[in-house]
Amino acid sequence: MQVIKYVFQPHGDDRGQLIALEENKDIPFCIKRVYYMYDTVKGVVRGKHAHKSLEQILVCIHGSCKVLLDDGREKKVVPLEKPYEGLYISNNMWREMYDFSEDAVLMVLASDYYNEDDYIRDYDQFLSYVNS
Ligand code: TYD
Repeated sequence: MQVIKYVFQPHGDDRGQLIALEENKDIPFCIKRVYYMYDTVKGVVRGKHAHKSLEQILVCIHGSCKVLLDDGREKKVVPLEKPYEGLYISNNMWREMYDFSEDAVLMVLASDYYNEDDYIRDYDQFLSYVNS
């Protein structure tokens, strides 16, 4: 499994840092939705699903967390702890986000609107889906 982590170029100057993300340039798809998680309760595991079509980029813009990626054959854990790093998650990829620091803000850029029909929320169903 190939983990694709983007390193965004900050526009830094003596006032601080600024990162701009443009669709089809810095982000490899059209951004139809942005959402973010914060105040995540200690010990919680979020995600635990895959998408049939959706592509996403995860950016931990404050604090840190870990992301487990699982394509049905292989699992990888990716730490997200820099606001200039973006983890690409393709469709057909099971993901779990955990180990959130208290101050973590995890922003997600998504290629489509929210659609419950695109979710696979059962792990065994995910395995049959990707292996069929
Ligand atoms: P959920 O899918 O459980 O989040 P996670 O992937 O982090 O476990 O979503 C939590 C709630 O938010 C659920 O009621 C669905 C809703 N939601 C939206 O309304 N729009 C969205 O874009 C997302 C991602 C979730």
